[in-house]
Amino acid sequence: MICAFDAYGTLFDVAAAARILGEKKIHDSFTKNWQKLAEIWRTKQLQYTWLRTITNDHADFWTVTQDGLDYALKSLDLENVAGLRQQLLKLYWELKSYPEVPEVLINLRNKGYKTAILSNGSPEMLNAAVASASIEKHLDAVLSVETVGVFKPHQKVYEIITDTFHCHKDEVLFISANGWDVAAAGGHGFKTIWVNRMGEPIDELARKPQYIIK
Ligand code: LAC
Repeated sequence: MICAFDAYGTLFDVAAAARILGEKKIHDSFTKNWQKLAEIWRTKQLQYTWLRTITNDHADFWTVTQDGLDYALKSLDLENVAGLRQQLLKLYWELKSYPEVPEVLINLRNKGYKTAILSNGSPEMLNAAVASASIEKHLDAVLSVETVGVFKPHQKVYEIITDTFHCHKDEVLFISANGWDVAAAGGHGFKTIWVNRMGEPIDELARKPQYIIK
């Protein structure tokens, strides 16, 4: 069995970049608004991946991440705060994992499961985050959508796992904190777990998660 994890939001805390800077209180308006910025940044980043896939205008996830941040900064009148954009991007590049992640990966490996990441992230971004979280030794593969040139939830992305591990779809357990990602992976034929950290409702999509964990 292959345990394939989404990266951003599932293994890596995407709000951490804004939170770390927000808590440093470097700028009044940002200190008040870092949560809002984190939310708009993530929402726009994801919207842009979906839109670029639908309109066949692929750019890698680092470009889309910067575009989402630029929109968020402008929407909160923060685009001219000296050094803010650059510091946020640096922190995003080096995101830490959620605290439980190394132990979860080690336990799965000890039980004989293979572990992998399947993410929208570019290979460079993923390698940087995996190194920063020191989890490279607990992963059998770090797989990026750049191999197929479209973002999730395009079905081509989920095929990367079975192509890499030369396995059948029903040998893959896909784990993501993004409800839409879980729905698409379930539709593709994978077993799924939705990591619902925030107690959110299940997405109203064609497929429901098979299992839900905190
Ligand atoms: C990823 C995004 C969806 O890592 O969070 O693929």
